[in-house]
Amino acid sequence: MTSATDPVVIMKQEVAKAAVERIKSDSIVGLGTGSTTAYVIEFLGDKLTKGELKNIVGIPTSFQSEVLSKKYGVPLTTLDAIDHIDIAIDGADEVDPQKNLIKGGGAAHTREKIVDAFADQFIVVVDSGKLVDRLNSQFLLPVEVIPMALSPVTIAIKKLGGTPELRMGVKKAGPVITDEGNLVLDVKFDKIEDPGLMEKTINNIPGVLENGLFVGVADVVLVGEIIDGKPTVREL
Ligand code: 5RP
Repeated sequence: MTSATDPVVIMKQEVAKAAVERIKSDSIVGLGTGSTTAYVIEFLGDKLTKGELKNIVGIPTSFQSEVLSKKYGVPLTTLDAIDHIDIAIDGADEVDPQKNLIKGGGAAHTREKIVDAFADQFIVVVDSGKLVDRLNSQFLLPVEVIPMALSPVTIAIKKLGGTPELRMGVKKAGPVITDEGNLVLDVKFDKIEDPGLMEKTINNIPGVLENGLFVGVADVVLVGEIIDGKPTVREL
C-alpha cells in the first residue's frame, strides 16, 4: 500500500487497521463493501500472509468484496456452509448518535444487512465525516427495487413524503444494476423522525427488496479522525 496524503484516505486506513486488530484467529468474518472495507480486506490479507492471524474465513457482502478477498488472499465461504459469523466489519454512509446507519452507497446494502445482522458482533468503520445528528440529512436513502416494480414503488415512496431518484451508472449508460440484478432508488425525506419505523415501512412496499436504514444492527462504531494533524481512532 502506498502511503496516503489525503486526510480522508488516512482516516479510512487508520480505522480499518483498528478494526482488523479486533479480529481473532479461528473466526468467520463478514467482509463489508466500499472504500473503507477495501482497506480492511487488504490489512486482513496482510495479517494472514504474515501469519499474525490464522484460520480465518470470510463471507463477502458483494462482488467487490469477493474480488478484493481473492486479490489479498482471504479465504471465502458462503452463508449456507456456516452456522454463524463471529464478526462483521463494514462501512457506512451516515451514522447517528444511536449508532443507526444509512448504508448502500455501493448499492450492496441488501447483502450487507444479511451478513452484518447475522454476525455476533458488527463493527462499523467510518471516517468522522459520516457522523450526523439525523439520518438522511446528508446522504440519500438507498432502496433496492425489483425492476418490474419501479413505477409502483416510486409512487408509494412519494406517498410517504420521499423524493426518489433512480441511481444511474457511471461509465455505463443506464441505471445501476445491483449484484442481485435490481435497481436502486435514492430517496430524500424531509425528516426521518423514527428510523426504525421508516425501515419497516419502506420494506413493506411490494417490490422493495431492502433499504439502507440499519437500525439497531451496529454493536460498535469506530471513527477515524484527524486531531491536531494526527490520525486517531475512537469508539462512538
Ligand atoms: C456499500 C456501503 C458502504 O459501506 C458505504 O457506502 C461506505 O462506503 P465507503 O467506505 O466507501 O465510504 O454501504 O453499499
